[in-house]
Amino acid sequence: MDSSTRGVLFDFHGVSMTRYFTDNWENVQNFQARPDDILIATYPKAGTTWASYILDLLYFGQVSSERQSTIPIYNRVPFLEIMIPSVATGKDQVDQMTTTPRLIKTHFPVQFVPKSFWEQNCRIVYVARNAKDNVVSYFHFDRMNMVEPEPGDWSSYLQRFMQGKMVFGSWYDHVTNWWKKKETYSNLHYMFFEDMVEDTGREIDKLCSFLGLTPSAEEKTRIVGGVQFDNMKKDEMVNYSTIAVMDFKISPFMRKGKVGDWKNHFTVAQNEEFDEDYKKKMRDTTLQFRTEV
Ligand code: A3P
Repeated sequence: MDSSTRGVLFDFHGVSMTRYFTDNWENVQNFQARPDDILIATYPKAGTTWASYILDLLYFGQVSSERQSTIPIYNRVPFLEIMIPSVATGKDQVDQMTTTPRLIKTHFPVQFVPKSFWEQNCRIVYVARNAKDNVVSYFHFDRMNMVEPEPGDWSSYLQRFMQGKMVFGSWYDHVTNWWKKKETYSNLHYMFFEDMVEDTGREIDKLCSFLGLTPSAEEKTRIVGGVQFDNMKKDEMVNYSTIAVMDFKISPFMRKGKVGDWKNHFTVAQNEEFDEDYKKKMRDTTLQFRTEV
């Protein structure tokens, strides 16, 4: 993989995308969900891997530790829409899964989700992260991931983020449209990265009550400990170090895991411009984020 593998943004049904997430569109749209499938939906870099690992441990942590120590998280929780040359498509991976429930990851904006998920009334867990930390995390990710578009410098990247010209489109549209979906679809649990950082145990409790799970106190303690940043960072099965397209010399996947790292990136002027634009874009939503905890 070199710079020629980097995706190129184009407009796809009104959303900026790269071919790696649209080439399998027909098959993905025709995906047949089962009622017990669980979809983990996020804007990229909002805490997808964290939520995926929590769910995987809740369902399969007890069954065999072999799963946890031999199967990378991206195979335990396949990425539905991904299609990268010479790698199995996410959709085929899901179709071949033998576990119940099947845990499935997507970064699709809500209007792209295959209709069978709605028809089957699947449980959906959405994780959102405040825009400032989200864009910082995405910037470092695009630097190190050779299938993402060239990020360019930070200040132009930030402008592009504000324009929604990122893979999977506008953060503003993504988080607000998923939020709105809650009004009409009750099987959707909307979580915040900031809440997870503040109190992982409390958020796991809420998640369990949504999923109808009752882990023992012991099991819960084990999971809360296992999913802490430092533990995930050193675990090869969840830290993405086994993936060829990522260059950890540029930036690790498990980078900082903090709320407020944006302060190390935004200049005062960038912050003011961002806040002003944010107010306009988020005027019509009740959705609120914390940029510090
Ligand atoms: P940073 O780049 O800010 O460190 P995703 O899984 O959606 O790609 O999100 C990746 C982001 O979530 C990274 O953010 C990563 O460090 C953070 N993350 C993953 N696991 C975490 C954990 N257990 N605690 C805190 N942050 C975590």
